[in-house]
Amino acid sequence: MKRLVVVSNRVASNEPKASAGGLAVALDAALRESEGLWFGWSGKVVDGIGGTPRITRSGNVTFATIDLENQDFDDYYNGYGNRTLWPLFHYRADLAVFDRRYYGGYHRVNALFAQCLGQLLKPGDVIWVHDFHLIPLGEELRKLGHKLPLGFFLHIPFPVPQILTTLFNHKKLVRSLLVYDLIGFQTDSDLRAFEEYVRLELGGSVDNRGVISAYGMSVHAQAFPIGIDAQQIANFAVSKQAQRQSERMSKSLAGRDLIIGVDRLDYTKGLPERLNAFEKFLSNFPDNRGRVTLLQIAPPSRSDVPEYVEIRHELETASGHINGRFSEFDWVPIRYINKAYNRQALAGLFRASRIGLVTPLRDGMNLVAKEFVAAQNPEDPGVLILSRFAGAAQQLVGALIVNPHDTDDVAKYIERALLMPLDERRERWRDMMKSVSENDLTAWRENFVRTLTDIGASG
Ligand code: G6P
Repeated sequence: MKRLVVVSNRVASNEPKASAGGLAVALDAALRESEGLWFGWSGKVVDGIGGTPRITRSGNVTFATIDLENQDFDDYYNGYGNRTLWPLFHYRADLAVFDRRYYGGYHRVNALFAQCLGQLLKPGDVIWVHDFHLIPLGEELRKLGHKLPLGFFLHIPFPVPQILTTLFNHKKLVRSLLVYDLIGFQTDSDLRAFEEYVRLELGGSVDNRGVISAYGMSVHAQAFPIGIDAQQIANFAVSKQAQRQSERMSKSLAGRDLIIGVDRLDYTKGLPERLNAFEKFLSNFPDNRGRVTLLQIAPPSRSDVPEYVEIRHELETASGHINGRFSEFDWVPIRYINKAYNRQALAGLFRASRIGLVTPLRDGMNLVAKEFVAAQNPEDPGVLILSRFAGAAQQLVGALIVNPHDTDDVAKYIERALLMPLDERRERWRDMMKSVSENDLTAWRENFVRTLTDIGASG
């Protein structure tokens, strides 16, 4: 078996155990099987020169991480990553900052990653690079003479050409993707946007096997929708800790229905629109006042970036306004929480909820939607209200699919979900659970690695 080398900006060994996401768990399994290596940023920012890998081992997995120096952290992570590519790839060209310093930092760190990683590579390795922070990494590795199979998976959406072309040097960015042997996207729409870009902007071609060619290079591109460990979430949802959370929650609700939203505090998640829809729900369907509570969990994220500071203020104002307008001395409509809960606790809260409200304005996949489904009680499942702009909407057709911008409509769907008969809830849930279980995280990971290895062997 070939050694798998995973490269990502964040490395699971540095994340607090409680929040170790499904991705960390899935990759960890693949890394263990192949005695693999996980390389990335340590999460530390240092004054001097970063960049010497720190090697640790856990079982037969090796972790290699590097620190970033202040300037690189500002330009590469806060700057080009979170202020340029993130908004742009989520269709928020209005928020994207185009700054050549950021661009310089992005390339500097990708070159540094390639140099440090390069020293650790061995013949026979298969390299799997993750997400928008590291698009040029493959090209940097090739420049250093590494000929190993290279795969890239984009966790976020790939924007249509009209949006991507607002970026200076967009051709250079996409050109660097062509260097990989395999590119994975979340959905067919993302894949189509990429193919369209290659045709329109690069004069390239796409054949019927999914091979994309331009500039004399060719790459396999395919949709690999990421999944969750459905069984694990289902187990979490009935764990002791989850039951405790859910009992505490029920007590505090005193018979009221619970609607839940769980999102990183990010402007792509449609949180102001969601609160606005909830306000309309209370105002247009007044019988529900005093009977329904919205629990919005939104752990702060990327708090050095001004756009994130702004969205946080906006949400504080909006939730305060709605609570001020509707609260009674014994009922508050929105419980707005800025802290993170561990996955067992969340699974318990999902199971205790009548509605999961997942309404991003744009999202690569959205695993909260899938986790909400997996955590439900099959006998009495809650209803998922899901944005059509989340990648998950292309798989979870049993959800109530909404346009998050149309807040009057979302308000109506909340009412409809609360009134939905048990039979319909069960039927919709069964459909979704089937999809979530069949396309789980292990299937996703195995499919990508197998495809990459096969291409490597034939190339
Ligand atoms: C998204 C991105 C990931 C990123 C995560 C958390 O899911 O696709 O690459 O790690 O957000 O964001 P952060 O900036 O805290 O790593």
